[in-house]
Amino acid sequence: MSLESDVECCKRLQWRLRLVVSPFVRVGVLTGGGDCPGLNAVLRAVVRKGERYYGDEIVGFRDAWDGVMDRRTTPLTIETMRGLLPRGGTVLGTRRGSPFDRPEGVDQVEATMSDMGIDGLIVIGGNGSLSVANKLYTERGIPIVGIPKTIDNDIEGTEVTFGFNTAVQIATDAIDRLHTTAESHDRVMVVEVMGRHSGWIATHAGIAGGATVVMIPERPFNIEEVCDRITRRHQRGRFASIVVVAEGALPLPGTIEVADREVDQFGHIQLGGIGALVAQEIRARTGFETRPVLLGHVQRGGTPTAADRVLSTRFGVEAIDAVHRGAWGQMVALQADRIVEVPLSQVAGRTRQLDLSLFDDVAQVFFA
Ligand code: F6P
Repeated sequence: MSLESDVECCKRLQWRLRLVVSPFVRVGVLTGGGDCPGLNAVLRAVVRKGERYYGDEIVGFRDAWDGVMDRRTTPLTIETMRGLLPRGGTVLGTRRGSPFDRPEGVDQVEATMSDMGIDGLIVIGGNGSLSVANKLYTERGIPIVGIPKTIDNDIEGTEVTFGFNTAVQIATDAIDRLHTTAESHDRVMVVEVMGRHSGWIATHAGIAGGATVVMIPERPFNIEEVCDRITRRHQRGRFASIVVVAEGALPLPGTIEVADREVDQFGHIQLGGIGALVAQEIRARTGFETRPVLLGHVQRGGTPTAADRVLSTRFGVEAIDAVHRGAWGQMVALQADRIVEVPLSQVAGRTRQLDLSLFDDVAQVFFA
């Protein structure tokens, strides 16, 4: 064993012993990446179990990693969390970005934790934040427990992320509304939903909303085939159609051209626009009146569904228990309706793609 890994081992042992010696801990919590419905419900659950059951002090870091590096905190207590269960967004604020983006960033995280006496961190985030959490744990021994969140449902290791159910419900409600206006005008409505790398929202909302066609990132689409389906539907006397497109869906190479997308300062490609392109192509190739609808951030806003509130609460309770077990480097997850722990190393840098049997064996049965 190298000297470096000895040091890492000692560090982790030190954190673990501290928890064994003292049952009360000071836990830092942050929310990272894009927001999603259910974040406040998770925070509330961490605080409720931590404060009432273990006597912990929960410190909220504002604006994700920025708050840890710059020591911007807010106390989270049972009192301050009152009434937040159904509230969308996150009271802590959130950002993209990571301590690894700043030259002194990781040292700042460590300094904050030791100066403030923070025994461990709970990181509530998506693929980006959980990868950062894994790196901080494996490379620097920082004690972290992860909680998966994203409306996209694309995190490895868990069968569901909170926020997904709400996003699907919002998209389904929108599709239900679009059916009636599409029918009044004999139009094709092209609904673009979120789903950067995966077609979970598109497929679930497409099935629930009775879509004519669904297009997902996992399956490059053939625009000719899409137009043929809609035309055949018209020939059968069905003049209104709903086409659901995931924002990350792409055409088969050499079919239609997609303009280069902007990339933000964190290397995050700005999606949104494939629905308008698909609508334009359908109109041009079929002659049918077609309208694009971009649902965008509506899917991420507002109150979480009951299912998301329950999942968020289960994750929050389990995460604070994991802290007290010293289960550092783990992420809480849902598998076969049980909350389990999965090593962050098995989650980092991966994307959970749609179960294609849902697309091929179920969704496609209802395509025009
Ligand atoms: O959180 C995931 C996600 O909702 C993606 O589906 C979407 O592409 C992205 O966030 C949008 O990010 P932003 O809010 O930074 O535009």
